[in-house]
Amino acid sequence: MKTRVGVIGATGYTGVELLRLLLLHPEVEVTALTSQKYAGTEIAEVFPSLARHLSLRCEELSIDRISEKVDFIFTAVPHKTAMEVVPFFYQKGKRVVDLSADFRFQDAKVYEQWYQKHTSPDLLKESVYGLPELHREKIREAKIVGNPGCYPTGALIGLIPLVKKGMISYENIVIDSKSGVSGAGRDVVLGSLFCEVNEGVKAYNIFKHRHLPEIEGELSALAQKRISVTFVPHLIPMDRGILTTIYVHFLKQVKTEEVLNTFYQCYEKEPFIRIHPKGRLPNTKDVRGSNYCDIGVVVNESDGRGVIVTAIDNLVKGASGEAVQNMNIMLGYPETLGLDVLPLFP
Ligand SMILES: NC(=O)c1ccc[n+]([C@@H]2O[C@H](COP(=O)([O-])OP(=O)(O)OC[C@H]3O[C@@H](n4cnc5c(N)ncnc54)[C@H](OP(=O)(O)O)[C@@H]3O)[C@@H](O)[C@H]2O)c1
Repeated sequence: MKTRVGVIGATGYTGVELLRLLLLHPEVEVTALTSQKYAGTEIAEVFPSLARHLSLRCEELSIDRISEKVDFIFTAVPHKTAMEVVPFFYQKGKRVVDLSADFRFQDAKVYEQWYQKHTSPDLLKESVYGLPELHREKIREAKIVGNPGCYPTGALIGLIPLVKKGMISYENIVIDSKSGVSGAGRDVVLGSLFCEVNEGVKAYNIFKHRHLPEIEGELSALAQKRISVTFVPHLIPMDRGILTTIYVHFLKQVKTEEVLNTFYQCYEKEPFIRIHPKGRLPNTKDVRGSNYCDIGVVVNESDGRGVIVTAIDNLVKGASGEAVQNMNIMLGYPETLGLDVLPLFP
């Protein structure tokens, strides 16, 4: 029997991406969708891309009604809204992958410093940070998975092997990320309008982006030592994709091949990590629509400076694809089920 899945917040960018991937998944059936604005409307009217693939009406969020229809829940709603609904599904015995930030932090104090008061701090003990490359075993047993932010996914995957091996200085890590506009969601906001974004590139929220504590928290836990990074996000005029360029200093002289080998060894069994050979660097166009994270490495062998570049699709590996990967791990399905899609090139 197929797993019945519900998507809370199905009419956003990550919601529709979840639907695209879940409809490709042979072991699940989408049985409930929620929206406030489009309650009562067929999902294919909201997203004509889904016509002939899914015939289901959006409905208002009722925990009791939806719990009867589903076995597994994705919450693809803004932070704060998520913590208002996840605890109720948890009480109903449903396992949840939450795409917002509400269940990404183990420590409510950190969450409250960057977001707002957490209304279910006790539940943070039950949640696991959903980066499979770091926490696969815990994700398997988790009742609630806090799916990572899009920027942290690309940044962490580019740094995990180097931190695990203690190869770099923790004093001056610089993470420079460039994101497409879908990262801001589908809500109508001035900063996402065509004329505001098209033909321009801008940095924003330097030293105060909410993904900073997520990146630093996971790196510090891995190193068992406080790591601070300089994280500079940029908005660029494309629909989807994040290119992250990470600047590091190696503690001793290394060759590009040695660093690449560290990445190969660390990610040998990872189904969604692709490492470019020496001399080739990732491009967001090569991962578009897929759950891949592509990685490239260049080392300046004379002085130990290194640059790691990662490319992901923010809506897939940076959100909905990673969420489906987490569901697969939680339910014991092969990890690539529903996600074995080729990137859309060009
Ligand atoms: N976009 C990305 O690249 C990305 C990446 C990683 C994580 N995330 C996170 O994933 C979550 C969803 O992001 P998104 O980009 O898909 O946002 P979005 O496009 O703005 O969609 C938000 C969804 O939540 C629903 N919603 C909004 N307010 C609600 C409320 N008060 N009660 C119930 N439903 C509500 C909306 O429904 P209606 O408007 O139809 O009522 C819509 O379906 C956010 O927490 C975001 O931070 C996003």
